[in-house]
Amino acid sequence: MESASGANGATDVDAAIERTAELPAGLCEALHGARNVVVLSGAGMSAESGVPTFREAQTGLWARFDPQALATPEAFARDPALVWRWYEWRRDLVADAEPHAGHRALAELEARVERCTVITQNVDGLHRRAGSREVIEFHGNLFENRCFVEGHVLETLDTSRGEPPPRCPDCGAWARPGVVWFGEAIPAAALEAADAALSDVDLFLSVGTSSSVYPAAGLIEQAARRGATLVEINTEDSALAGLMDFRFTAPAGAALPALVDALGNGGPHP
Ligand code: OAD
Repeated sequence: MESASGANGATDVDAAIERTAELPAGLCEALHGARNVVVLSGAGMSAESGVPTFREAQTGLWARFDPQALATPEAFARDPALVWRWYEWRRDLVADAEPHAGHRALAELEARVERCTVITQNVDGLHRRAGSREVIEFHGNLFENRCFVEGHVLETLDTSRGEPPPRCPDCGAWARPGVVWFGEAIPAAALEAADAALSDVDLFLSVGTSSSVYPAAGLIEQAARRGATLVEINTEDSALAGLMDFRFTAPAGAALPALVDALGNGGPHP
């Protein structure tokens, strides 16, 4: 199969073989034996799409604000227009981002194994845009809006009052971003879906997360208790690196295609 030559003259095939050769020994076997793969992704998964991590994003006019102080129900109740404007700014930051080869590799993995569920801490929607269908947005979605009082998802917004935030068309309450704020519980549906995915997990990939925020990081410990093979893909060791069976120290955009390449073109398992 003729493939495009890379900038250095190497073919994509050579690059794929080289990437596969970097896989930690034994990981290929774990991959080939996997029937139910669960992926936990964090901000490092979107770094190569140009999406700044939650804490890096504070630049310009927002640099003087602590993101953790803004991303709370109390901050929104105190100054809804300020918090709404911050989220509008964060949406603009993400709107131009595109999924990278790592996102696409996870969508490909879903077609290659019996079951592959992505649980993401990211709110940028990039996994779904890359083609992954089994995605649990553990911290919500930046581009979704909800009623601040009733909590339901708003498909339309009442902007007749002019001053942001817009209002819920059903009850007139403020509209709020559909993300999980600090101090808020993870949506029950997301918790239940994550628990179901972990019930018979055999391979758990932790990608681009510092494993420092709970309850998301607790999913890694839950997978360990369920006897899954744990793999960490990160550019540095996370807080739970010691739990891992394999640590692939590489950017997600290179490591994930190498993992999927290692599955070969064998297609879905028989
Ligand atoms: P962090 O910013 O805490 O951690 C990002 C991790 O990704 C770090 O361990 C980096 O080393 C790693 N990393 C960076 N670039 C990478 C790359 N190209 N490939 C692979 N890894 C890379 O982000 P999270 O762990 O996602 O919560 O943080 C979790 C939560 O903290 C966020 O969801 C948010 C924030 O509080 C809420 O908003 C509720």
